[in-house]
Amino acid sequence: MLKRILFFALVLMIGIVPLFAQDMELAGPAECPEGDATISVAGGSVGGELAQLESAAAAFTANCPNVTIEILQMPDSATERLNIYLQTWEAQSADIDVFQVDVIWPAIIAPHVVDMNEYLSEEEIGMYFADMIAGQTVDGRLVAVPWFSDAPGLYVRTDLTEEYGVEIPTTWDELTVAAQTVQDAHRAATGNEDFWGYVWQGNDYEGLTCDAHEWLVAETGETFISAEGEVNVTDEAWIAALDRAAGWVGTISPEGVTTYQEEESRAVFQAGNAAFMRNWPYAYNLGNGEDSAVAGMFDWVPLPAGASRIGACLGGWQIAVSQYSDNVDAAVAVAKYFASFEQLKARALSENGNPPTMPSVYEDADIAASPLMSRLGPILGTAYARPSVATGERYGEASALFSAAVHSVLTGEASSEDAMADLEVALEDLLASME
Ligand code: GLC
Repeated sequence: MLKRILFFALVLMIGIVPLFAQDMELAGPAECPEGDATISVAGGSVGGELAQLESAAAAFTANCPNVTIEILQMPDSATERLNIYLQTWEAQSADIDVFQVDVIWPAIIAPHVVDMNEYLSEEEIGMYFADMIAGQTVDGRLVAVPWFSDAPGLYVRTDLTEEYGVEIPTTWDELTVAAQTVQDAHRAATGNEDFWGYVWQGNDYEGLTCDAHEWLVAETGETFISAEGEVNVTDEAWIAALDRAAGWVGTISPEGVTTYQEEESRAVFQAGNAAFMRNWPYAYNLGNGEDSAVAGMFDWVPLPAGASRIGACLGGWQIAVSQYSDNVDAAVAVAKYFASFEQLKARALSENGNPPTMPSVYEDADIAASPLMSRLGPILGTAYARPSVATGERYGEASALFSAAVHSVLTGEASSEDAMADLEVALEDLLASME
């Protein structure tokens, strides 16, 4: 897995070579289904996602006026989105035809979605990174089509690190010191007590699972359940990393960070009120947008390392078609178009800058010239997957146990040792119940 991710990153860094030459004819206009149809799409609205989705829908319906697309705006939290999806699937509801689904959910969604192998040609499937297709294949069924990839990095106010003579941190310990130094110096220089050293995602949801997985993988080289199915939450260096993170709350990070998701962190950073931020690629173009106070003042680099490595959370979103849809053919046509070459490119160049899932898109001259894409390769190379393969359809429960336990430490409700000892038992019980 890691080797493949590194390969993917390398491909991004060197620019893609003819090895990946693809038939561009496939990137043509939308294929229209027969007859009138109304298709509901449950999509994200993090950053500029909604605008992007609406423009994709408008492009499709301009070409296929027999189709009406309704965009259903889902909560930003991946955890909340999954809960909504599970409720509609439980009811076998035809209300949502097309779902935007997280990279960690293939086993969870499998019973409720159509097999995209039946609707896409081999050539069409071959357009996507083979690894991503493999990751979305459950018992031979392609449960979702890769839509955009994701890996987080460290956003750095380079104007301030330069001004105050601080090196860009490459370890979590260095980050702790650098954030405090810039925060102290900048507060003293400006009197702005709302200026913070470091913002990240500390709310109790899937995003905290990602942030904490990063501290854990950095120290131990493994996530909270290893590929071999071993629970990994009591290592001493990890306990210390957890204490370090709890120590950030109220010192280099606002007290409220334990309620932050991605967008709350971005709001603080983009207003010019943070030296460093952990966030996904989508914050890059937005941070350089016209309404950003920090446009042109920051860089985006790989996350800090721990004793073992850099453990960036491998993220990404797919598009899936509901088995309960009343019009699967039209739903598939919409899904295919949304994940087409043309739309992947548009999305990557949009203010949301979502990384494409087709090698051929990276070959495109506009993409290769984009400042975001040139930073992406090294960051994707640091990515490490959450334990969604080892936990399968129980991933959501495992992740919820992990984030709740970490959250209790961040808010001071429990000591790191106690919280992790209890978590170890709970995760072992969960694994045992799967046998
Ligand atoms: C990003 C990632 C996704 C992850 C989520 C957590 O959207 O792409 O995989 O689950 O963040 O907040």
